[in-house]
Amino acid sequence: MSDEIENKTPYEILGDQGIKDLANAFYEAMEELPLAADIKAMHSDNLDHVKRMLAAYLTGWMGGPPVYLAVKGTVCLTEPHEPFRIGPKERDQWLACMDAALDKIKASDGLKQMLKEPLFRVAETVRNCDDSTPKNKGPSIIAVG
Ligand code: HEM
Repeated sequence: MSDEIENKTPYEILGDQGIKDLANAFYEAMEELPLAADIKAMHSDNLDHVKRMLAAYLTGWMGGPPVYLAVKGTVCLTEPHEPFRIGPKERDQWLACMDAALDKIKASDGLKQMLKEPLFRVAETVRNCDDSTPKNKGPSIIAVG
């Protein structure tokens, strides 16, 4: 592993500004990538608040000061995501945006490798259903006549 990575947390590698850049790049990717259309549709038009919150969350999650915890009193992501149906498809769209964001900020291959599995695990904890089919999809057989 390179010197850049060895014995360092992602927070130490990226710093506060790097994490802000990553959160901004994440939402830019979400707006740009056609493959992220489903998760884009869940978000409000003004992304300023959620950009700040994602940066705050990632700061603590990456080994820096617990700024999200200080604001929200918890690091649990279940409640803020409860209004949305997040299945494997949405989880994978989120992860694709994060991959694109890491590319945008020119993260090293070592850092990408270090984050790959943990990012999958945190996205998987946010998933709250097995698929994205609306619960109330009505009868599958329509009686005629
Ligand atoms: C797995 C797929 C995910 C989807 C589809 C998703 C979607 C969303 C949506 C729709 C919002 C609300 C945005 C708004 O208010 O306009 C949100 C908020 C947020 N998401 Fe996610 N999210 C996902 C995963 C994650 C992950 C893995 C993290 C952290 C590593 C995260 C961190 C946040 C934060 C910090 C907020 C703001 C919550 C607050 O206001 O306290 N999300 N997300």
